[in-house]
Amino acid sequence: MDRPKKKVVLRAVNSMSSLSTSVKENGGKGMRAVNSLTSISELDDSDLLALLVDRPRVKLERKNSYEEKSFSELSLYDGWETPTFSISDSFDPHPMVSKAWEALFRSQVYFRGQPVGTIAAYDHASEEVLNYDQVFVRDFVPSALAFLMNGEPDIVKNFLLKTLQIQGHEKKIDRFKLGDGAMPASFKVLHNPIKKTDSIIADFGESAIGRVAPVDSGFWWIILLRAYTKSTGDHSLAERPECQKGMRLILSLCLSEGFDTFPTLLCADGCSMIDRRMGVYGYPIEIQALFFMALQSARSMLKEDAEGKEFMDKIQKRLHAMSFHMRSYFWLDFQQLNDIYRYKTEEYSHTAVNKFNVIPDSIPDWVFDFMPLQGGYFVGNVSPARMDFRWFALGNCIAILSSLATPEQSMAIMDLIEARWDELVGEMPLKICYPALESHEWRIVTGCDPKNTRWSYHNGGSWPVLLWLLTAASIKTGRPQIARRAIDLAEARLLKDGWPEYYDGKSGRFIGKQARKFQTWSIAGYLVAKMMMEDPTHVGMISMEEEKHMKPVLNRSFSWC
Ligand code: GLC
Repeated sequence: MDRPKKKVVLRAVNSMSSLSTSVKENGGKGMRAVNSLTSISELDDSDLLALLVDRPRVKLERKNSYEEKSFSELSLYDGWETPTFSISDSFDPHPMVSKAWEALFRSQVYFRGQPVGTIAAYDHASEEVLNYDQVFVRDFVPSALAFLMNGEPDIVKNFLLKTLQIQGHEKKIDRFKLGDGAMPASFKVLHNPIKKTDSIIADFGESAIGRVAPVDSGFWWIILLRAYTKSTGDHSLAERPECQKGMRLILSLCLSEGFDTFPTLLCADGCSMIDRRMGVYGYPIEIQALFFMALQSARSMLKEDAEGKEFMDKIQKRLHAMSFHMRSYFWLDFQQLNDIYRYKTEEYSHTAVNKFNVIPDSIPDWVFDFMPLQGGYFVGNVSPARMDFRWFALGNCIAILSSLATPEQSMAIMDLIEARWDELVGEMPLKICYPALESHEWRIVTGCDPKNTRWSYHNGGSWPVLLWLLTAASIKTGRPQIARRAIDLAEARLLKDGWPEYYDGKSGRFIGKQARKFQTWSIAGYLVAKMMMEDPTHVGMISMEEEKHMKPVLNRSFSWC
């Protein structure tokens, strides 16, 4: 199949000479000092305009709604002084790109003649199809972004409306009815060649291994609706009564009052990308970051009518409480680690420093070596007497993109990735989490899961799909050289290896033991990363700036001090 014509035309306007001037001005040390995000978020629109005018960039001519992007979003791509990032390089389409488009088009799934999504994996060689022949909501996100960036929004719109209809189905697991807002993990189109009819079956967790409902699906749905709106400028979809209702139903599941003492969302193990037991129950960073991003997205799309108003108030309060909680208690850097190491325990009352009663002896040995002097990250989970110190890629990248992380924390996360490149990226971007669970811990935490043995699959495996998130985060923080390095690694192997779902091993060298080939999100993730490097304004679809009034007074240590 021919790759469709790209609808975005790009032209480099600033020559490499202006690129090297800014490098020299920066003492050749790259861009960190110049692009302090702290200062960016403190700038007003006129300052941002000046920044946009001043810096070397690409000029865009596009036929869609670029003009409608706000300056606050444009301010994100402020980082072209890097010595290793060459604008001219990024305009050479790699031979892999056309192969990836072919594979992405082949993965489209049709319902009554209309494309409604992409199949998880197009792997006929694999003996076991399981549910990889379905359209997964989370897996479709990078496909959707690729289509949007390519000026093809129809499949995304069809997907959003189809999943919305599915949301309206009654959802039961045995005799128990799930909340109305739940979105499916995946769906499958059944073609009846005799009757010539199409029908859909969906999975809300009632067929999934482990029977867990996907908490992330609803969040991704809202995030995608915003990306669609941003990219096309078509607000009419989000304004439709059924989309407004869909958002409210999703939100009412997670904004309802209960017994919670934390603003974070309590979850079962396996309710997101890591969809089997991996010790991520409680308050996993992946869900918290997606929740935060979905709240921000909903806030920009919900109408303030009689029904929407109440949600807007709740969203505002929750965002405020969550940013404080996450930035204070999930954040870990050298100083904070040292503080926890010296924590007293059994403190009572509101004066307690060690609020969750984390016992210093529970800090794993690896983290003392892993933590660089400069850098930090959001830990995997925080709940009473339990801190999961593991580093998770998706949650940390989404924290940057959603501005759950402060500008300084965002920089520190990227510092950590650079400082621990061998561990987190190795030979294939990017580790889903670090480090792997081994031996006794693996037995206890995973329940002896043979698919999740050390450095494989969800247990420290390397997932090419995460490349798009790393790229978006790198661009937002003004450090595209990190993405460039990662894309080079992916280009050395992905096509040759048949677009595997994941890689195994401490440095991600081996194609995963049970990895599917032609895994669609590995293909789409690569394309999205490439297109964002070509045209960094694409990051605006999936990125949001910190609200000024949300800036908390931080009483914690940070790695830049
Ligand atoms: C696996 C992954 C999950 C993904 C699905 C389809 O179950 O763990 O994250 O959505 O495959 O690719």
